Amino acid sequence: MDTIECIYQRRSIRKFKEDPIDEGLIDQLLQAAMAAPSACNKQPWAFYVVYNQEKREALRKVSKYSNHQAPLAIVVCGNTKRSLSTKANDFWIQDCSAATENILLASTALGLGSLWCGIYPVKSSIQRTKIILGLPKEMIPLGLIYIGYPDEVKLARTQYATSFVHHIR
Ligand SMILES: Cc1cc2nc3c(=O)[nH]c(=O)nc-3n(C[C@H](O)[C@H](O)[C@H](O)COP(=O)(O)O)c2cc1C
Repeated sequence: MDTIECIYQRRSIRKFKEDPIDEGLIDQLLQAAMAAPSACNKQPWAFYVVYNQEKREALRKVSKYSNHQAPLAIVVCGNTKRSLSTKANDFWIQDCSAATENILLASTALGLGSLWCGIYPVKSSIQRTKIILGLPKEMIPLGLIYIGYPDEVKLARTQYATSFVHHIR
């Protein structure tokens, strides 16, 4: 699959088969995540890979929109101890978002389905996730990614709309 095809093929999958994911594939997802760009190359991220069923069940209740069942969850966190000091410290959000999208695209390329569920900036969701995973103070969960073999088919597409584009020549 070429890169452009992969970008269109990536869709939010909300129904997964129960089959576990091979550790080698999980490793490739994490390799892809950490290949993402980050401001000043600070890499202010941490990835909590959740195999444990009880923890995954608990994560479903992080928000009313995260109530999905998948054999694997990866919680992408900003590590504020590694983020930029000064006024630019919020760049961790963009850095971790780039890493998240890399995981989604790599999942698609590897034949897996994925779903990005937002956590940050909803305070209740952040707090619940911190308790479930026992996160240290410096870790802020940005999002929860569900991953598994897809049990639904979604069509590849772009959502291109000329109205979103402003050409300045
Ligand atoms: C920051 C962010 C948060 C999201 N949170 C959720 C969520 O909590 N639950 C969910 O089912 N989908 C969530 N989504 C997925 C979007 O609903 C989905 O990307 C959008 O409807 C477009 O569909 P597509 O991903 O198939 O292109 C989220 C996506 C993003 C980028």
